[in-house]
Parts: sequence; structure tokens; C-alpha cells
Amino acid sequence: QQQEKASLLKAYDFAAKLYHFILGNTEQGKAAKGYLTSRGISDKLIDTFQIGYAPAMWDTLVQQLDKRGFDLALMERGGLISAKHEGNGYVDKFRERVIFPICDATGKVIAFGGRSMGDAQPKYLNSPESVLFNKSRTMYNLHQARPNMRKLQQAVLFEGYVDVIKAWEAGISNGVATMGTALTKEHAALLNRNADQIVVCYDGDQAGQSAAFKSIPILEATGSRVAVAMLPDGKDPDDYVRNYGFDRFVREIIEPAVPSMKYKLLYIRKNFKLHEDGDRLRYLQSAVKLISDLHSPMEREHYLKQLASEFPESSYEAMKLDLHEILLQS
Ligand code: GTP
Ligand code: MN
Ligand code: MN
Ligand code: MN
Ligand code: MN
Repeated sequence: QQQEKASLLKAYDFAAKLYHFILGNTEQGKAAKGYLTSRGISDKLIDTFQIGYAPAMWDTLVQQLDKRGFDLALMERGGLISAKHEGNGYVDKFRERVIFPICDATGKVIAFGGRSMGDAQPKYLNSPESVLFNKSRTMYNLHQARPNMRKLQQAVLFEGYVDVIKAWEAGISNGVATMGTALTKEHAALLNRNADQIVVCYDGDQAGQSAAFKSIPILEATGSRVAVAMLPDGKDPDDYVRNYGFDRFVREIIEPAVPSMKYKLLYIRKNFKLHEDGDRLRYLQSAVKLISDLHSPMEREHYLKQLASEFPESSYEAMKLDLHEILLQS
């Protein structure tokens, strides 16, 4: 098994280099290069992230692996190539896709994310899990971000590969992403080992905001402090950078990230019509309930006071009584 792992690692490393070479140096790579340029991904970023291109042919990689004596059955088990549907033999798994290599914590390539450039579905094709690749323990860009996470004692968590890459160009050197899957306890523990504070910066659509809300307890369970950076509806970090530039992304989105409690209050607020008495009361009750989850009495007091000053017609004393009742029950 150790031998199989070593051979697969070698193959992924070779494939990453091949795809990167094809992107930068061949006729086939030109369209992909144009695609990346149009998305604002510079040559320097293409190198830093070892981005590549898998051409349209059926067996570019299969042929090269075969020629070099790799065991193709093993390569298939490792998710690098696919068995033919009919008959024997193998075909490339990634075709006509921009390739984002996914590395382990030491920087070895263990999987690929492949983005279609047109309407081909799925938009992203990711390598399956293998002896090398465990999605719930892998984070995109961890190997490059980790030293900076440690230095800053802060990590920034994004949704997508391209978000991490654009943020890197904006000077966010501590950004990582999950593999398009939900954040796991393992991810949270991994982040907490390297940084005290996590800034969640998910897409500004309903899916992203709901995922951000759900990520908070997972991250906090490991002892991390969590802040949330909010994007305008329908925009992701990549969109924001493209529309407003790197500086404004940092100044207007990352720096004003709000503490998790503030985010939770803003998030649940959207479900209530605050100009209606009944709804306003129900919001206040839900808010007090959220505040009661805070362990520190000082923090509870802080948010309770803020809430009271925001809704002056409801008395602070009454809120405090509500809070005490909730605390007694739990
Ligand atoms: P771009 O359109 O390239 O900017 O992608 P995005 O990152 O903005 O995509 P989106 O917000 O839809 O998804 C975020 C992340 O989820 C991506 O970076 C992928 O990791 C993952 N993802 C998105 N679409 C798919 C898909 O069709 N299949 C799989 N397996 N993962 C996906
Ligand atoms: Mn290069
Ligand atoms: Mn999204
Ligand atoms: Mn997105
Ligand atoms: Mn995007």
C-alpha cells in the first residue's frame, strides 16, 4: 500500500506538471489561457497555483502514464484516469477542463479540481476520494496558507478555488477553501491547530450565507473565534474583486468582518418583518435566545445592550429577565 501511494503521488505530480505545461506552452492551451486571462488570473497566479489545462483528446494523460510505466489499473483506482465504458483500456478523466491541483498540507498534489470553460456539466469535476485524497481533511491552498495562518493567527475560509486565488492576489495569504463540500469537524480542527481566529467569507447568495451560518458552531466547537465577512447579494469574492478591485475587496469586505454573534443576529433578522409588532417581538425573543448561548456574561451584556438600544421601545430590563429565564432553563 505504501508503494501504491508513492506511485500515485508520482503520477499526480507528473499529471500536474503535464497539464501546467500544456496550458502555458501549447496551441491546445491557448483557449484555456484566454479563459483564465478573461477571469483576471495572471501568469504569475497560474504559476503560484500550478494551474493547468487538460486537453480535449481522449487519452493525453493515459498515453503519457503508460509510456512511463505507471500501473494504469492503480491510476484508475486512484481517480486519475477512468476505465473505458466499453471494452478494455482507459481514458482521461479530465478533458477540456482548466485544472486546479489540490495539494496535501506538505504541498504534494493529491487530487484535481477541473473547471469546464463552457456550459459543460458539471461546472467543476473533482477527483474522487482515494488513498491520497480525503475531502473532509483536505483544504485547498492549505500548504501555502499555513505559515501565514500561523503568523497572523488568522485563517480566511472561502467557498471556491478561484476565490482563494483572487484573494491571494489581493494580499490575503491565509485563505483556504473546502472542496465544494460542507465544512467538517476535521476541517475545523485543522484550522484551529493553525490559527485562533477564522474569518468566514462565503458567497453572498442564499446558499453561501446559509453555509456561513452553519459553519459558525462547527468552527467554534474547536475553540476558534469566528468572524464573518459579508458580500453583497449574488456576489462572491471573485466577482467583487473583478468589479471593484483588490483594495476595495480588502477594505470593504475582509476588514469589516463582524463577530459571529453579530452575524447570527443579522442573519436571523431577515426572517422577520421588523416594522410589525408581532414579528419584532418574535425577533427580539430569538435574538435573546441566541445571546443566551454566549458563555461570557460580559459578552451577553454587550449584545443585550446593543439590542436594547436598537429597539428603544422594548425595555432592556425585560430583555434581561427573558435572558435569565432562558439561562435558568438550560
Ligand atoms: P466559478 O464559477 O469558477 O467562479 O466557481 P465558484 O467557485 O464561484 O462556484 P460556486 O460558488 O458555484 O461553488 C463553490 C465551490 O463549490 C467551487 O469552487 C467548487 O469547489 C464547488 N463546486 C461548484 N460547482 C460544482 C460542481 O458542479 N461539482 C462539484 N463537485 N463541485 C462544485
Ligand atoms: Mn509555470
Ligand atoms: Mn457558491
Ligand atoms: Mn462562487
Ligand atoms: Mn465564482
